[in-house]
Order: sequence, then structure tokens, then C-alpha cells
Amino acid sequence: MNIKYPKPKHIVIIMDGNGRWAVENGLTRSKGHKAGVKTLKNIIEYAVRTELNMITAYAFSQENWQRPRKEVDLLLDLFITSLQSEVDDLHKNNIKLNFIGELTKFSDKLRKTMKKSELLTCDNSGLILNVALSYSGRWDIQQALLSIINEIQSKKITIDEVNEELINSKLSLAENNDPDLFIRTGGEKRISNYLLWQLAYTEMYFTDILWPDFDSKQFSLALDWFSKRQRRFGKTSAQIENEYDT
Ligand code: IPE
Ligand code: IPE
Ligand code: MG
Repeated sequence: MNIKYPKPKHIVIIMDGNGRWAVENGLTRSKGHKAGVKTLKNIIEYAVRTELNMITAYAFSQENWQRPRKEVDLLLDLFITSLQSEVDDLHKNNIKLNFIGELTKFSDKLRKTMKKSELLTCDNSGLILNVALSYSGRWDIQQALLSIINEIQSKKITIDEVNEELINSKLSLAENNDPDLFIRTGGEKRISNYLLWQLAYTEMYFTDILWPDFDSKQFSLALDWFSKRQRRFGKTSAQIENEYDT
């Protein structure tokens, strides 16, 4: 049976390949990252046009702090300038912005800019755009555990109240649906410490296309691929087809 499944409610993206794209085009890595910002802008516009609910984009991992200081500084600069120049447009498009990750690692200036744009867009009802910065899946689980331990020690909760739902509620994307579709550009088939807990049942799409070349056509290919996946969550095909019929 050829069932077409609904659009993914929550799409998470590892935007990889800016550096290699720059090298291939005889440009500096900095130009690659700038081209990457443009791609994200186009993908967001496409998501707004097609009424997608939520995108969570990996912009900077905790491991990325280990890159040469010059590249890290350049990326931090790019985050501030892009955010400052784009936030009004994002707001006009009814987008709700949200930053996740160990944000305390950033300068006051960047944190203020992030907070301001979250506040400006907090009542918007369109696309929810989560941007992961200084993010690590293991860090996310660790901070959830610490918060739970704290609540147990201060007797706010007891050990038998610790379950999946509680752990989930302490994670960065607590109020959001689990990701339906994961997209990684740039050819690597790995998770790179992204949303480890949240990806438990996500459909994984990998493409060799480098992030700056990932356009709306490539995005719609990924969405199309998703629409043909049968999500069984442990059940049999027959069970799923029955559920879909009724
Ligand atoms: C992704 O592109 C952007 C960030 C990690 C900030 P890369 O910079 O990792 O590009 P490649 O993998 O070197 O091509
Ligand atoms: C993952 O890309 C992080 C982001 C895209 C922000 P990397 O290029 O840093 O991943 P690895 O280190 O090659 O796995
Ligand atoms: Mg990379």
C-alpha cells in the first residue's frame, strides 16, 4: 500500500558543509558561513510559505568551540549581525524565535540580542524557529539530570516520580513535539551530539549536498522522502495501515 503521510511537524537540521563549499568555490571559510546564513534564510522563507510548524537548526555545537579562534570569532560576529539584520523580517513573518544550548558561554552582547529577539517574537503564532547554539545533546541530558537531582534533594519531588515525561520536561525542547524529520547536509552520516534524547524515533535524512547549496528544491525532496516513510514505532506494517484506514 502506498500511503502518503502528513507533513512533519518538527524538522531538525544539521547545517553542515559550509567550509567545504567555500573550498570548492575557491573562497574563504568565512564566505562559506555567510552563504550558509543565506541558505537558512531561504529555507525559513520556504517553511513559512508551506506553513511548516517548527524547525530546530544546529548553528554551533559545543565541540565547535575547539575550532581556530579566528573562525569562532567570525561565527559569533555572524550570529550577532545576522540576528540584528533579520529579526524584524522574522517578526513580520510571524516567526517565533527561540535559542537553545549553553547560552551562558556567549558574550553579554550576543545574549542580549538573543533575548531581545525572543521577547519581540514571543507572541507570534507562525513557524517556531529554534536555533541551537553552543548546544550538545549530552549537555542537555546532563542539565536535565542535575535539575531533577536538585528537586529530589530539596524534596520537591520523590525518586518514584522520575519518569520519561519528567526527564523530557527538563530538556531544552521540553514543550515541543519530538522531531519527526532530521536532515543533515554535507555527506556525514552522524548525529554530532545533536538532540540525542529527542531523536529516539525521528526519520533520518542524509544528503551529500553542502549546506550553502541546499535550496527549496532540495528541501522539498527531503519532505517528499519523509512523506513516503512508514513510521511504525515498534508496531507492524499491518497495524499501521489499519490505523491509517480507520
Ligand atoms: C557547518 O559547516 C557550520 C558550523 C559547524 C558552524 P562546517 O563549517 O562544519 O563545514 P565543513 O564541514 O567544514 O565543510
Ligand atoms: C555539526 O557540524 C555542528 C553544526 C552544523 C553546527 P560539524 O561540522 O561541527 O560536525 P562534525 O564535527 O564534523 O561531526
Ligand atoms: Mg562540518
